[in-house]
Amino acid sequence: MNKLYLFFCLTLSIALSSCDSQEITENEDESKKVIISQPVRDAHSYANLDEIRTKHIHLDLEVDFTTKSIYGIARHEMVNNGTDTAIFDIKGLEINRVTIGKEGNEANADYVIGKEDPILGAPLSVKVDSNTTFINIYYKTTSESNALDWLDPILTNGKKHPYLYTQGQAILTRTWIPTQDSPSNRITYSADVKVPKELMALMSAKNPTKKNEKGEYHFEMKQPIPVYLIALAVGDLSYRKLGKNSGVYTEPSMIGKVAWEFADLQKMIGAAEELYGKYEWEQYDVIVLPYSFPFGGMENPRLTFANPTLIAGDRSLVTVIAHELAHSWSGNLVTNATWDDFWLNEGFTVYFENRIMESLYGKEVADILALIEFQELEMEIEEISNGMHPEDTYLKLALDGRDPDDGMTQIAYVKGAFFLKTLEETVGREKFDAFINKYFDTYKFKTLTTETFEKYLTENLLKPNKIKFNTKEWLYGKGMPKNCVKLVSPRFEGLQKLADDFAAGKNIFYAKRKKDVLTRDKYITQEWLAFIRKLPRDISIDKLKKLDEKLNFKNCGNAEIMTEWYVLGIQAGYTELRPNISAFLNKVGRRKFLLPIYKTLAKDAENLKFARQVYKQARPYYHSVSQKTMDDLLK
Ligand code: BES
Ligand code: ZN
Repeated sequence: MNKLYLFFCLTLSIALSSCDSQEITENEDESKKVIISQPVRDAHSYANLDEIRTKHIHLDLEVDFTTKSIYGIARHEMVNNGTDTAIFDIKGLEINRVTIGKEGNEANADYVIGKEDPILGAPLSVKVDSNTTFINIYYKTTSESNALDWLDPILTNGKKHPYLYTQGQAILTRTWIPTQDSPSNRITYSADVKVPKELMALMSAKNPTKKNEKGEYHFEMKQPIPVYLIALAVGDLSYRKLGKNSGVYTEPSMIGKVAWEFADLQKMIGAAEELYGKYEWEQYDVIVLPYSFPFGGMENPRLTFANPTLIAGDRSLVTVIAHELAHSWSGNLVTNATWDDFWLNEGFTVYFENRIMESLYGKEVADILALIEFQELEMEIEEISNGMHPEDTYLKLALDGRDPDDGMTQIAYVKGAFFLKTLEETVGREKFDAFINKYFDTYKFKTLTTETFEKYLTENLLKPNKIKFNTKEWLYGKGMPKNCVKLVSPRFEGLQKLADDFAAGKNIFYAKRKKDVLTRDKYITQEWLAFIRKLPRDISIDKLKKLDEKLNFKNCGNAEIMTEWYVLGIQAGYTELRPNISAFLNKVGRRKFLLPIYKTLAKDAENLKFARQVYKQARPYYHSVSQKTMDDLLK
């Protein structure tokens, strides 16, 4: 038996048995923090974190747009508990060499790449000594590196320069950096990145505000973060400062519009700090990326990545920015230990986002936003309950053997937020806010599971206030518990009534005085969503045309409204919309918009044919995240 084979067998048995790490938990006594050995199993990583774990990575990266690949060295500084194997996660990477030792004093190391799993990728097992603390992995990304979106100039706003951005969450970091890709471990990082000199590089780290002549950039992230938050964007970028510690990046041709849209950024930071304590990341900037970005926003620390569909021209979609900012506490500071606990990131963030919106724009607006989300939750519960995994309506998920992306539903987001809203209503805002402040403070720069949160909630909020609460039902039960708070919004209901009136044949566009005539700017985006959603699915084409004639939904430039309108149009057989739908799907790559449109089209044979035609054309321009979802849908 050769040495490498033996090493491989050994490694495999380790990989199968040891995805555990320890979780830090609070003792009864505030002052004594103890580490209890409650193992956290992360089913989505091969890393043997309890034996050896990265504490710092230095990245040496060269971004090559001609071959669309990144040539990299990932220099891991480890905490080694005396093991002889270090296991990393890799997927779609070409590994060229692994060494042990400090830079310049390196020795080649034996390594073996295990069997590739279609979701997780493969374990990269490196043979080390019990005192090894530096492991360097020399690698190259490939066309299978799904985190990366390489854009030709034509897909940018300026049309002159190429663009690259990464998307790490949930388990895509392993496709562009060999890492121990589990949210239960936190690391600091630094990077040296070389890019073509006409481009600027930015990371989720301390960033430059100007291009430099050589195209060589250095980055530092000094606060420990989970690796899914390592991010890079490279393009023809410019910066505008908005406030004391905030600003925006985007292509030069858009910088003015973007700065105008996000003018409230500094105020938002102030409101968030007022609610839940100090912003721990020093600077908060937003970069508006090209249209292919698959999300509305991604909370990369210090630098939120945002979709250009947020630039609606009327500041009506800034709630997404409030959301990503809120992640600077829930998610980035206090992090879900595994993707089964995803609601701890997103549920808290949606709750917090709504509180920021309330601080800035009042309770009436905040309630309308929450009600729109609640409608989406109800629809999703219905769908999940009738699908293959009805247990996906539990807040605590069980995603073993599945893509963590499957957990990205309104359950984590909105059921999670309504759980917290219900708690708030039960104990009162003052006590609830004090609890959340303490929670963030206790767990900052740590990770936790749902079970640990449950215990913390009981000990720190429910018991002291002598409150009986159906926590278990919320966390581990299906659908919505009966005690969920009920929001009432006269404005929301007003728009629903307007929809009913219109459907019943009333002329809603008539008014005695000119200034009372119904125009689109009379209501905010989410009120129009409530209106469109309330229209009957079999409404006449004439009526839909009338609305387009008066309010121009079909081409209004607000992607939220357009999506809602296209869905209704398809359901009602308003086929004249097809050119608009096709243009939209060829421009926007945000999954939240693509999915409902393609899904509705896929429901009948004729529309499915049209959907497939459009998709064939548009697919190359979507990020792999959106491609994967639509491939599954339209296959
Ligand atoms: N962190 C998420 C995006 C994400 C989740 C990416 C899971 C990959 C895996 C981000 O904060 C988010 O929730 N974005 C939403 C914003 C919305 C809820 C306001 C989006 O993109 O639509
Ligand atoms: Zn989020």
